Amino acid sequence: MLRGPGGGEGFLSAPISEALERITAPVGSSCGPREPLDGGASAASNGRAVLLRADRFELPMSPTAVFGRSGPLVVEIGFGDGRFTETLALERPDWNLLGIDISAGALSRAIGRLVAARVRNVRLFHGTAEFALRQLVPPDSVARIYVNFPDPWPKARHEEHRLLRAEFFRRVATRLGPNGELCLTTDHDEYWTFALGEARASGLYSIDEREPPLTHLATKYALKWKFIGRNFRHAVFTKIAEAPEPWPRLPSDPMPHALMDGELPELTSFEKQVLKIEGGSVVVLDVLRPLEGRGYVFMVHVEEHDIVQQVLLEARPTPRGLHVGLANFAAPIATDGVQAAVSWLVAWLEARGLRTRQRWYREIASSSAPQRG
Ligand SMILES: C[S@@+](CC[C@H](N)C(=O)[O-])C[C@H]1O[C@@H](n2cnc3c(N)ncnc32)[C@H](O)[C@@H]1O
Repeated sequence: MLRGPGGGEGFLSAPISEALERITAPVGSSCGPREPLDGGASAASNGRAVLLRADRFELPMSPTAVFGRSGPLVVEIGFGDGRFTETLALERPDWNLLGIDISAGALSRAIGRLVAARVRNVRLFHGTAEFALRQLVPPDSVARIYVNFPDPWPKARHEEHRLLRAEFFRRVATRLGPNGELCLTTDHDEYWTFALGEARASGLYSIDEREPPLTHLATKYALKWKFIGRNFRHAVFTKIAEAPEPWPRLPSDPMPHALMDGELPELTSFEKQVLKIEGGSVVVLDVLRPLEGRGYVFMVHVEEHDIVQQVLLEARPTPRGLHVGLANFAAPIATDGVQAAVSWLVAWLEARGLRTRQRWYREIASSSAPQRG
C-alpha cells in the first residue's frame, strides 16, 4: 500500500496501477535530499522552470523531456494557491506533477509558493484542464488526477460548465494509464451526486467513496468551508475500461503567415468581426497601432471545441514585404481557428488592395456570423 502526504493511509490506499506501484519509491522514502531534475535548471532560482509553456516543446509533451527524468505523471486540476501541490511535491519527490489552472492569479500565487519551497518536480500550466489534457498530455500516460473543490456551478442552467461531466470522464480515460485514478474532494453535495452519476454514466470507472484524507482538507477552499462547518466528500474513480473513442489532439501547425505587398490602409475605425468555424468561432475584437506607427496588431479571440485562446495577429512591414500572420506572443497554438483568423486577415487586406506574394497557412472554411452585442 502506498501512502501520501502526512502518511495517512486514506490518501493513497486505493488500488493503483501496477505501473505506478513499480516506479514509485517505497513508503516513507519522501523528503530526502532533492536532486535537480531538469539538468540543473533550478526551479528554486528560476520561476520559469516551474511554468510550462506549450510553445516550447513538441505536442504532445514528452513528460521525460519536460521533467528531465521519468516517473509517474500525476496531474492536479485547479491547483488554486498551490498548497496541495506543494505538499504533494515535497512528500512525493519521485512523482512528476503537472498542475493546471485557468486563473492567472492562482498561477502567480502557486509559482511563488513552489519556488519558495524549492520544489523541482512540478510544472504548472496556465489554461483549461480540457486544453492541457487534450493537447499536452500523451494518451495512457497519467497515473493519477486530483481534483480538489472544483467550481460547483450550482445553478441548473450552468451545469454544462461543470468539469466532471460524463464526456470529461470518457476523455480523461484516454489519458489515464491502466488502472489510473481520478480523486475528487468536494464540499458540495449536489456536485458530488452529479459527478458520481456522470462517472457511472461513462461506464469506464469503478467508484470508491472514502473519508477525505487530511491533506485534501488543508487546501485554501477546504479551510474556508471547514470554517463554516461544511461536510466533505471524497471519491476515487479508477479506470476499469478503455474509452470507446480516442481524444485526438487538434492539429497545430508552424506559425501561419503570409507575405504581402502594398500599402496598409489608414484605419480610423474597426468593426468587430465574427467568423463561424467548425466547432466554434473566431472574433476579431479590435485593431491596435504600435507606438512607432508601423503596421497593425489585431486582437483575436478564438474558441474551437474545448480550446479557447486569445491571440494577436500582426500586419508588420519588414524589409522583405508585409508580414501578416500570428504574432509570437502569449504562447499561441496554431490551431484551425487561428489559421482561419490569419486567412481572414489576408482576405481583409486583399479587399483593401494589398497583394499576397506567398502564404504559409491552411485555408479553413469559415463564414461570418451576426455580431452579438
Ligand atoms: C474552488 S477553486 C479550488 C482551488 C484549490 N483546489 C483549493 O482546494 O483551494 C477551483 C479552481 O479550479 C480552477 N478551475 C476552474 N475551472 C478550471 C478548468 N476548466 N481547468 C483548470 N482549472 C480550472 C479555478 O481557477 C480555481 O483555481
